Amino acid sequence: MRTATTVTTVWPDATALAHAAAHLIVDISNKAVQQKGYCSIALSGGSTPKLLFSLLATAPYKNNIPWKKIYFAFGDERFVPPTSDDSNYKMAMDSMLSLVPVPKKNILAVETVKLKPEQSAKHYENELSKFITKKHPFDLVLLGIGEEGHTASIFPNSPLLEDKKKVRSTWVEEKQMQRISFTLSFINQAKQVAFLVSGAGKAAILKTLKSAKGKKLPAARVQATKTTYWFLDEAAANLGV
Ligand code: 6PG
Repeated sequence: MRTATTVTTVWPDATALAHAAAHLIVDISNKAVQQKGYCSIALSGGSTPKLLFSLLATAPYKNNIPWKKIYFAFGDERFVPPTSDDSNYKMAMDSMLSLVPVPKKNILAVETVKLKPEQSAKHYENELSKFITKKHPFDLVLLGIGEEGHTASIFPNSPLLEDKKKVRSTWVEEKQMQRISFTLSFINQAKQVAFLVSGAGKAAILKTLKSAKGKKLPAARVQATKTTYWFLDEAAANLGV
């Protein structure tokens, strides 16, 4: 059994961080397609990944990714229509997926209109199981981190920290929003995870994660089976002071 590793890199700014993550995605996607004929990636939401997604949709990255052989899903989704500016699906479509030759059938969105949250979580889990198995887990799950240590839609003390299902619907009090999210257990089944953490606003939580108290926070409990990458910029890594 290979031991899991963590790789932390610090980049001068958000743009350099996005380029570094883009290089990783080129590498992971091509290796996965060579090894098993396809690649599976779960995208994160929020604002940080936008720059990475835009980079991936432009040369040189766009021309070096096997788009037609990648399956995309979402690590979490706000329970809003896909036309809403709060939708992670809309953000990913607008900044990347509508600009690259990925087959529409390979993009698994969370159903947030025709189904109620609980039904949607079950439906999403069933659809995921068609291409994500114990033998073939996600090649990569992208994640961000919130200032109180959440990741995906797993907030401190969330039941999703101990839940053994893959996907759950959850009310997020901190955001006053219904979410659909991977559980910690499902995220940790991924082969690789990459956190993108940018900006001075994340410096405090990154410091906390290293403390005894911080170790219990959702983001601190993520560990991919092969490698967990932390892409930080200097502002978040607090190298400026
Ligand atoms: C979401 C994300 C969430 C995000 C963090 C960081 O749906 O909002 O999945 O977990 O990654 O909140 O968000 P920012 O990148 O906007 O700081």
